[in-house]
Amino acid sequence: MKTLPVDIDRDRLPQHVAFIMDGNGRWAKQRGLPRIAGHRQGARILKDLVRCCKDWGIPTLTVYAFSTENWQRPLKEVEFLMRLFERLLRKELTEMHQAGVRLQFLGDLSELPASLQTEMTQACEITAQNQGVTFNVAVNYGSRLEITRAFQALAQQVKQGVLNPEDIDETTISQQLYTPDGPDPDLLIRTSGEQRLSNYLLWQLAYTELYFTEHFWPDFDRSAFHVALLAYQQRDRRFGKVATALSA
Ligand code: FPP
Repeated sequence: MKTLPVDIDRDRLPQHVAFIMDGNGRWAKQRGLPRIAGHRQGARILKDLVRCCKDWGIPTLTVYAFSTENWQRPLKEVEFLMRLFERLLRKELTEMHQAGVRLQFLGDLSELPASLQTEMTQACEITAQNQGVTFNVAVNYGSRLEITRAFQALAQQVKQGVLNPEDIDETTISQQLYTPDGPDPDLLIRTSGEQRLSNYLLWQLAYTELYFTEHFWPDFDRSAFHVALLAYQQRDRRFGKVATALSA
């Protein structure tokens, strides 16, 4: 499925899809493999999904790779994930750059291993002007922390006398988040049957369509994405208004 499936309406594609990549561990357990095997296969699936978004004309995707809560996992798994992120960045950067991928990271990167931070900064700089697809990776990300920091930044500006409290609006708040530009997600996909947001993009998901699938992340291939897009295109997005057909 290199090209957009014929039953998907090109004019009503989501412009931004957010993913919660859940179920790597359970996928591995089902096969009698260690959890890290699930993360490895998850990374392969993710790589093809980035390509798929480009092939099908979806300009932005954002994935939840590591939450502020994930530090509580066994140290070995955390260390494996950090090494995996770094290795993937090194290995895939050239190919992603050639494919026109613009990489961005959301989260408090200062707590990550220094060598990973260096790779991330370089990857963002190298790909900054690319226009094929924007690939946001949330690492050491927590939405409440993101919003708290936005409030702190705005409070500082008020304290310094450069911002009036009455001028604080949705735009000024959005500008302080990790996602200051680009549209909010049109569609959120969470795999593995869990139906919760887990502190992910809470501000940005205000009007997002939510899609939950039983597939474990390492099984979420192009055909599963195709099914999700079909479901999305069945939805009637009203943004709080009445349905178009009924409003006349
Ligand atoms: C959730 O499954 C998955 C993660 C916390 C890690 C996701 C990371 C990858 C897929 C690697 C991608 C790499 C980059 C560079 C973005 P889980 O471990 O919570 O699964 P479980 O719920 O079955 O235990």
